[in-house]
Amino acid sequence: MRTFEVRAKLASELLAVPLDANEIRALANKENVPRSGYHLTYSAADIGQMRSKLFPEFNERLKLPTVPPVVSLRMSKGGVGKSTTASNLALCVAAQGYRALLIDADPQGDASDMLGIDVEQEGIVTMLDLLTNNAPIESAIQRPYAEMALSVIPADNFLSSFDLTVSAYTRREYLFATFIKNNSEFLAKNFDIIIVDSPPSSSVLNFNVLVASDVVLSVVKLDGMSTKALRVLAQELNDLDKAFSMKKPVLFLANGYHPSYRSSEENLDNLKNMYGDQLLKTVIPAYAGFLSQSRVTKGETNALYEREPTSPAGRKLLELSREILALLGIKGLGVEQ
Ligand SMILES: Nc1ncnc2c1ncn2[C@@H]1O[C@H](COP(=O)(O)OP(=O)(O)O)[C@@H](O)[C@H]1O
Ligand SMILES: [Mg+2]
Repeated sequence: MRTFEVRAKLASELLAVPLDANEIRALANKENVPRSGYHLTYSAADIGQMRSKLFPEFNERLKLPTVPPVVSLRMSKGGVGKSTTASNLALCVAAQGYRALLIDADPQGDASDMLGIDVEQEGIVTMLDLLTNNAPIESAIQRPYAEMALSVIPADNFLSSFDLTVSAYTRREYLFATFIKNNSEFLAKNFDIIIVDSPPSSSVLNFNVLVASDVVLSVVKLDGMSTKALRVLAQELNDLDKAFSMKKPVLFLANGYHPSYRSSEENLDNLKNMYGDQLLKTVIPAYAGFLSQSRVTKGETNALYEREPTSPAGRKLLELSREILALLGIKGLGVEQ
């Protein structure tokens, strides 16, 4: 099992509190741990414990009886950064001591892969088994990191038969929402946020994800901003509203900003004009480090935030997670930065 351990400086960044190495060490009750020449490191579980000491309201979430918010990544265009955002967002949330569940609804399994799950392995239990076969939720959950509350329901290629499998079902767009309802007690008890990655296609599977979402997070890539993809999204949300009387709040994330490309600036301005407050303040920069996230070597370290948490792109991903957690009203984040 992989580990995600950070040094004092990053621990202080994850807690968003300026503390020096000795203060972090004391806060984590590690004064007596011998360092034996190495720097002391802290796990996400340590960060969670420190957070609960610093911010008592952090602990309130453990008592909440409600299902955590479901945030789904959606854009009809592929290659815009949905899986990148889903996996890094889940990782950043968990690195800060919160409990994240990432559900991969894309048969390609990119987000699962980016979190180091071998999507070629036999016996993966996916949404297909959960929604059409009554497989118990626990049988699907994988935990790729030790001492980190990051859970993943991965996807594999079998999930691509979802639409065909459910074609004769009644209320087939509600299967995921019903699943969440049926598992509400388990979900409320174990998670602070549910993040769902989705494929670019328009499909019954995607409608299931939309119907079950509390917030839709649309990723727009600034270098090739596709107005067509934005129109498809608007159409889908409109269909959802008409057919199921559901208006879903939508947030937009600008991805791939490059200061020396004029098109980046222009596209960002356009997005601001079109979406106003719906456009998240955090903008993710274009960064070559993202390219080596997937399928490097099976089971290897992949998500950018795991490899380069202190790179400018890594810091933006952390900032994004904090902006989203704050918007969702999740407690214990500490001071506004
Ligand atoms: N900000 C970025 N800078 C550079 N490359 C990026 C960025 N965001 C995503 N990418 C790369 O773009 C490709 C597509 O990203 P991915 O998250 O798989 O998109 P989607 O899930 O929307 O299809 C991947 O190779 C990823 O590493
Ligand atoms: Mg994807």
